[in-house]
Amino acid sequence: MLKIAVLVSGGGTNLQAIIDSAEAGKLPGVSIDCVISNKAGAYALERAKEHGIHSECISPKDFADMDAYGSYMADFLAKRDIGLVVLAGFLVVLPPVFIRAFAGRVINIHPSLIPSFCGDGFYGLKVHEAALARGVKVTGATVHYVDEGTDTGPIILQKAVEVEEGDTPETLQKRVMEQAEWIILPKAIEMIAAGRQDI
Ligand code: GRF
Repeated sequence: MLKIAVLVSGGGTNLQAIIDSAEAGKLPGVSIDCVISNKAGAYALERAKEHGIHSECISPKDFADMDAYGSYMADFLAKRDIGLVVLAGFLVVLPPVFIRAFAGRVINIHPSLIPSFCGDGFYGLKVHEAALARGVKVTGATVHYVDEGTDTGPIILQKAVEVEEGDTPETLQKRVMEQAEWIILPKAIEMIAAGRQDI
């Protein structure tokens, strides 16, 4: 059984997609062990509670520095025997001490076709604002392994989405979520659990 921890910061629609996939039997061999947020008020925590999934807030603000936070998080997840850490709208940059502890076992969903519109400062709506400003006709989402860089780890899955006339950052974000993120993130977890992706 692959026990996964989902790290969140916001609304949790990607978490919901994972939960829905699991409950539909599409994630055999996967157990959503816990949902952890850096924000106590994140609606993603409510989604976890509604589905009986252990959830809690662990905030960097409660630690002396990011290394202490990263070490605590690594120990906490290791004690729960977590095999895969899924960053689903998680806005904290995890420090090297955490990434090394879970080398090759952390994945992230990014709302663009990496290497476009990624790296420092590219998150949430800012990604779609940049895509619209550049005038791209196609954008999409990427699931990738997390290394010590920002959005630089090996790519696992990508899915393209058309940019439509009159799109705003909000309408584009919604389409990318519906047509790409919510599909490829559960798919990547399924592939990893089935051993079709190195971990
Ligand atoms: C999404 O746009 C996702 O691509 C990005 O964070 C945003 C929040 O997603 N990583 P969610 O609704 O909290 O899953």
